[in-house]
Amino acid sequence: MGTTANREPATPDVLWANGRFGQTSRRDRWWLSPLLVFLGLGTFLVYANWAAWQNQHYTFGPYISPFYSPEIFGDSPHAWFGPKPTWYPSFLPFSPALLILWIPGLFRLTCYYYRGAYYKSFWADPPACAVGEPRKSYLGERTFPLVLQNFHRYFLRLSYLVWGFLVYDAWKSFWFQGRFGLGIGSLVLTVNVVLLGGYVFGCHAFRHLVGGVFDRVSEHPIRYQLYNCVTCLNGNHKKWAWASLCSVGFADIYVRLCSMGIWLIFYTLPNKVAATC
Ligand code: FES
Repeated sequence: MGTTANREPATPDVLWANGRFGQTSRRDRWWLSPLLVFLGLGTFLVYANWAAWQNQHYTFGPYISPFYSPEIFGDSPHAWFGPKPTWYPSFLPFSPALLILWIPGLFRLTCYYYRGAYYKSFWADPPACAVGEPRKSYLGERTFPLVLQNFHRYFLRLSYLVWGFLVYDAWKSFWFQGRFGLGIGSLVLTVNVVLLGGYVFGCHAFRHLVGGVFDRVSEHPIRYQLYNCVTCLNGNHKKWAWASLCSVGFADIYVRLCSMGIWLIFYTLPNKVAATC
């Protein structure tokens, strides 16, 4: 039997110390995933920024875009505290979305899954596993600025608040002029909160909060059940992340197009089917 000292040194797949950017012995299409992430996240970021600054076409009847909810101040009937207050600094731009969108935005920005995804696709650090990176030093997340990613656990708590408001919006979307009904928007907003729920309740930080704080979580039956549920969601965290990202963007587009009179909306009331723009 050979000893460690007698073994031939293994040839590394990537010459990490002296390798070039992009150098790899991988033969698969390792670049495809980062490219798709770049295109997907990039498109969403451009659209979400554009939509957040519009300050119009974000409500239609009982529907409100998730980008603008909860609408703290604003001109729509959905606003909790009425129009923009007089004390609001005139030099600051105003849109109800700007007051709230930073919470889900920073929550996703600091999400463990997205971090792994955009580190690869946006600044190629590394572009993929076992592929040469553009820099030779490893800074990690223990120094500024990436140490700020640890605020994820706090954005998690704020995100549950926002999610609660979105659940309320979904419920309200079934009420048309005081009568219960069903519209495409009701389904869009309901599916959106389900997908968002799968994403936020499968969060790694929430999993720790629920059961990770115990040495033996199995000794706490209720927390153990919860922990297993969160673990189940957490196993598909990437899928929930993308599905909810698409649904939240689509919900805004749907409400916007209805408000602009482009998308015909159907809804049913007891004994009545109606269509309007
Ligand atoms: S780790 Fe992704 S939402 Fe917390």
